[in-house]
Amino acid sequence: MEAPRGPERPGPGAVLLPGWLTLDQQQWIVARFREWTAGPVPIRAAKVRGHEMSVRTVCLGWHWQPYRYTREATDVNGERVLPFPDWMVRLGRRALADTGHSDEQVAAYTPDTALANFYDDAARMGMHQDRDEKSLAPIVSLSIGDTCTFRFGNTENRGRPYTDLSLRSGDLFVFGGASRLAYHGVTRVHPSTAPEGCGLDSGRINITMRMTGLSG
Ligand code: SIN
Ligand code: MN
Repeated sequence: MEAPRGPERPGPGAVLLPGWLTLDQQQWIVARFREWTAGPVPIRAAKVRGHEMSVRTVCLGWHWQPYRYTREATDVNGERVLPFPDWMVRLGRRALADTGHSDEQVAAYTPDTALANFYDDAARMGMHQDRDEKSLAPIVSLSIGDTCTFRFGNTENRGRPYTDLSLRSGDLFVFGGASRLAYHGVTRVHPSTAPEGCGLDSGRINITMRMTGLSG
């Protein structure tokens, strides 16, 4: 049995809460993820400067493509993405409340897009900032399945200083405030680390919910 893990704060406004989702909740979210991947916009590897990312993504609310949000997946099949579900707004607010945000911040948090990523054993995500949103409201990140090494850096560049964290199945990571534009990435996925009962036998799902600040 591993020692219980406590919260970690790799930067101002950045909090990792281990084991935030129960196994039942993880399993339920994985079942929803399978529904989302069925369409109307299928899961796909976005192309960055002509190269497919190793991560595959399906979006809710707004469709992300490098480097903008649209309602229709114009780089996939032109279909409109699924609506952003109310349960995820409630979950996002609970995530902010549990990571020390004020009642005002919680009430104002209305995420309107989610990027649901699937990582196989070989998938990685290079260091980047989330800066295609007009809003600087916090990003709420949920991980399910295999553990990954998540690199959380600084707001200036892709290099040091950074902190390498383990994001495990059920973990919540929130980054906002002075860390909202911190560079971050996934350097490794650790095969065969998904817990029994999380709903995923192999690979990793990460869901980030965001406020785009867009209308229409
Ligand atoms: C992302 O940066 O959008 C995803 C991060 C993660 O997979 O944990
Ligand atoms: Mn990101």
